[in-house]
Amino acid sequence: MITNKASTVSLTAMTTFFSASLVAALFSANISMAAEPYDADRYGPQEPIIWATPTKAIFTHTTHTMDAGLACDSCHEDIFPMEQGGTAKNGDFTMKSFKEGKYCGTCHDGSTAFESSTQCGSCHFAPEAPIVFTSPVKAVAFDHSIHLQKGKVACETCHKEVFAMKKGSIEGAEQPGLTAGDKRKHLEQLHNKYCGTCHDSSQAFGYLTRCTVCHIGAKGYDAQQSSSLKKDKDTGKNNH
Ligand code: HEC
Ligand code: HEC
Ligand code: HEC
Ligand code: HEC
Ligand code: HEC
Ligand code: HEC
Repeated sequence: MITNKASTVSLTAMTTFFSASLVAALFSANISMAAEPYDADRYGPQEPIIWATPTKAIFTHTTHTMDAGLACDSCHEDIFPMEQGGTAKNGDFTMKSFKEGKYCGTCHDGSTAFESSTQCGSCHFAPEAPIVFTSPVKAVAFDHSIHLQKGKVACETCHKEVFAMKKGSIEGAEQPGLTAGDKRKHLEQLHNKYCGTCHDSSQAFGYLTRCTVCHIGAKGYDAQQSSSLKKDKDTGKNNH
């Protein structure tokens, strides 16, 4: 219920925001189109570059050329080829490489531009549909939007140390080859180390209190599946 209410409110806010910016965009487009059409030789491709794997990320030429004033040769061809997907072929297009000063990290080092280990959300996208864990118990729901909007938690608060930015670490107790002791330890940590780092009755409601807020159970799971199917359909429509 709360989730639905929150998303209705933010949808309304977003609609207002988008219609306001649409008017502004049309207005400025009218003026600048008459004077000067978008010049891709000068600013690079107008459409953002989006990588889909291993995790979705975005790069926008205009913010780097038009806004930050960088010339093409500050990136091409020494740091990046002029071909979308070219860098990914090297096999080391990773956060670790950035930390070592390669690729985006050539500049995103905390001095030329913000450091790549901060502001994950500037380059990455949080999943819109809740993540539903089904093991070891069915089912626990984790909703990014509640945490980002109501909880005002930054991506890096969770993704730097607590969780990998990839579904799987929580359900890791099912991995083959774990001893009974390892399994028990992982299960204890599910509450007190992972979600419980915040759900400790001080930063957020405690994990020893409102079990069913997280544990939506098998019934909640079924409801979640049908609503996220619907959501996927809606998103698909909007993208066309
Ligand atoms: C801050 C770094 C940076 C700057 C500055 C930059 N680019 Fe790029 N450009 C990239 C990245 C990153 C890619 C994607 C490369 C990849 O996926 O391996 C790219 C890709 C491209 C592509 C290929 C697009 C495609 O769809 O295949 C073109 C064309 C391009 N850039 C033109 C330019 C031009 C022209 C300029 C100067 C006006 C410029 N770039 C400035 C980083 C930059
Ligand atoms: C040649 C230097 C350089 C490289 C390489 C570079 N950036 Fe940037 N980037 C900048 C500068 C300068 C700014 C503006 C200052 C700031 O925001 O700290 C910026 C700003 C940004 C922003 C904030 C502006 C926005 O679009 O909202 C994002 C996001 C970003 N860069 C992503 C990337 C990604 C992704 C890569 C690698 C594919 C990359 N950058 C590579 C120099 C660079
Ligand atoms: C300046 C832009 C930028 C910032 C900031 C950034 N990333 Fe990335 N990240 C990228 C790009 C570009 C890739 C490579 C393309 C891809 O995987 O989609 C990437 C790849 C990844 C990957 C998959 C490859 C790997 O390194 O394992 C993970 C996981 C990841 N980022 C997590 C994070 C987290 C967590 C943060 C914040 C602490 C963060 N990123 C901040 C741009 C950024
Ligand atoms: C309150 C903690 C928290 C915050 C804040 C948070 N995440 Fe997550 N995120 C998670 C958890 C938990 C998972 C699932 C990890 C697992 O299964 O091991 C996850 C998974 C992901 C995934 C992988 C989804 C998949 O299907 O594999 C991406 C991408 C991601 N987060 C991006 C973001 C971005 C971008 C932000 C900030 C805008 C963010 N997250 C903020 C906790 C958080
Ligand atoms: C970085 C801190 C942090 C982590 C880690 C975290 N949460 Fe939260 N969570 C919050 C905050 C802050 C709120 C909003 C305040 C509140 O409801 O107590 C919240 C709210 C929630 C709610 C919403 C309650 C409602 O009002 O509807 C659920 C459900 C939830 N978290 C589940 C989880 C689960 C499951 C995990 C682990 C996968 C997790 N959280 C990890 C900080 C966190
Ligand atoms: C902040 C969210 C959250 C709260 C509150 C919470 N849990 Fe969990 N719980 C999880 C997550 C995440 C998992 C692992 C994912 C899964 O099993 O689907 C889990 C797993 C479990 C498991 C299986 C693993 C194990 O430890 O044996 C049990 C049993 C369990 N919870 C019981 C409870 C009980 C009882 C309460 C209330 C006293 C509770 N949980 C409150 C998030 C929560």
